Amino acid sequence: MLRTIALDSSLGHRARGFETTHRGDEWECLVSITFRYRCILDIDGCSELVLYSTLHGPETIHPQCGGTNIASPSETSTPSGEAPEPRLALRGAVKAFGPVVALAEGTIEILPGEIHALVGENGAGKSTLVKILAGLYHLDAGEFRVDGRPVVFRNVADSKAVGISVIYQEPTLFPDITVGENIFIGRQPKGRLGLISRAAMRSAARRLFDQLGVRIDPDRVAEGLSIADQQIIEIAKAISLDAKILIMDEPTAALSGVEVERLFQVARNLRANGAGILFISHRFDEVFDLCDRITVMRDGRYIATHVTTDVTVDAIVREMVGRDVGALFPKEVAPVGDTVLTVRGLGRAGVFSDISFEVKAGEVVGLAGLVGAGRTEVARAVFGIDPYDRGSVEFLGTRLKPHNPKASTDAGMGFVPEDRRKQGLVMDLSVARNTALTLRDRLARFGIIDVRAERTAAAEWSARLHVKTTSQEYAVSTLSGGNQQKVVLAKWLATDPKFLIVDEPTRGIDVGTKSEVHRLISDLAGRGIAILMISSELPEVLGMADRVLVMHEGRITAELSRAEATPESIMHAATASLERTQ
Ligand SMILES: Nc1ncnc2c1ncn2[C@@H]1O[C@H](COP(=O)(O)OP(=O)(O)OP(=O)(O)O)[C@@H](O)[C@H]1O
Ligand SMILES: [Mg+2]
Repeated sequence: MLRTIALDSSLGHRARGFETTHRGDEWECLVSITFRYRCILDIDGCSELVLYSTLHGPETIHPQCGGTNIASPSETSTPSGEAPEPRLALRGAVKAFGPVVALAEGTIEILPGEIHALVGENGAGKSTLVKILAGLYHLDAGEFRVDGRPVVFRNVADSKAVGISVIYQEPTLFPDITVGENIFIGRQPKGRLGLISRAAMRSAARRLFDQLGVRIDPDRVAEGLSIADQQIIEIAKAISLDAKILIMDEPTAALSGVEVERLFQVARNLRANGAGILFISHRFDEVFDLCDRITVMRDGRYIATHVTTDVTVDAIVREMVGRDVGALFPKEVAPVGDTVLTVRGLGRAGVFSDISFEVKAGEVVGLAGLVGAGRTEVARAVFGIDPYDRGSVEFLGTRLKPHNPKASTDAGMGFVPEDRRKQGLVMDLSVARNTALTLRDRLARFGIIDVRAERTAAAEWSARLHVKTTSQEYAVSTLSGGNQQKVVLAKWLATDPKFLIVDEPTRGIDVGTKSEVHRLISDLAGRGIAILMISSELPEVLGMADRVLVMHEGRITAELSRAEATPESIMHAATASLERTQ
């Protein structure tokens, strides 16, 4: 018998599939070739919902559904009267890379006109699921439908063709062509005589930007645009392609507050026009602010879907992590020692100017400000990665030569960069090698690396930071984004520096590990290490810093003690206080 069935329990578990069988109190429903749900019905509804997988055997999703709104067999025999057809439905998706099962049961359903959050710890399988939807990865098993029709994607073009657009954290624009050309690449509007019409392209791009409520010049080259603008351009491109489903994988990680708000407004407009949006983020305030429903994943598996207004942050976190976690580690005040770093009048034409500050042993100095204020640029100059043309950096009483990161490292400075994937890792080397890279001198005996010691050190740090990998010997490129970040953090935290710069230490790191990172930073300060912490997250700055420097457009606009630092005083200096410095 072939018919549609939808079994919904009040706890949000949902079995939906085809070809059902009915035996006494039991219903079985085939979801895909590899998965079937079995539901044992009792008087009150569904008392047990069991997922069978030919790969993993039976698994009880929830032993006590106790639902009352379970659809009765007669109601479910036809699709009519059901909730709207999902724009996109992936069920029981499986994706393995050799022995690593990245996705064991990926399930997501996106309705038209909803913003749907996908949350889970680092390595839960979110990006893998996105890459399947984008046509980058092929499904090993599972069922995939768009607007009710089964689809099989051979490549990215197939995914685009059915109206799926993906915005990745790092935009993929071509830097040396114009904004308009980027939007219409490969399908530029043609004028009479079949020639590409620049005017038509320009006005089409303008119309898109008007629709999105943003002002970007379609004729400028893409190079040098902020990440926020680049993302908006990707969205404009998605709209021009008539995207019905927009997927954003951690789009806000590199955006400032104003830019995040603009992106959200754009997302809300698209929702109003009937698009389905999938939004991935580690920031719960954003998820709860923006999204209509939330799907939680853990260890490659679907856990549950909730209507946002029916659920709390704590409940979501518990489902993600499987335990209760504190969002922030309580600050431990360490005794402050001598000055370790003195920066005087540092300047680089057009980037930052007149930067002066000190950091003392045992102190955590927060460097706050909006994205683009010049914080990372200052940190890179202090560490010697970039040159500066004015001022000086003094470290432990010795003036450092500019532009010499090796000398800084040798002298005892460490730097955990913001863009950890690009700057902090050797992608082809193993997790163990990467973790122990900065430890090599200490682990080497007579110039030969003690491999066992390297493995032990790496394993210890991986465990402390909950790095999720099947083996320490895998290439670091196979780790999830957040887990790669943890490896870079481990690598530097293990070196025992005298001064450490951490740039956005918990960006992209899941809630379960955030407090661990905070604890490690506190531990380092307690051991007398001086720390400069760049962070765009106000709770992190307020929670961790002994003193806060605020930057705005390349200048320090405020220096606040722990007592003076409040969200208002920081935001004021980060946004509106240019007059004071000019
Ligand atoms: N190409 C690959 N080869 C081997 N393992 C992989 C590959 N891609 C992903 N994995 C593994 O699959 C798991 C899920 O990774 P994924 O990137 O989907 O996580 P995520 O939920 O996006 O995490 P994050 O929040 O850190 O971005 C991880 O354990 C990762 O190591
Ligand atoms: Mg990811």
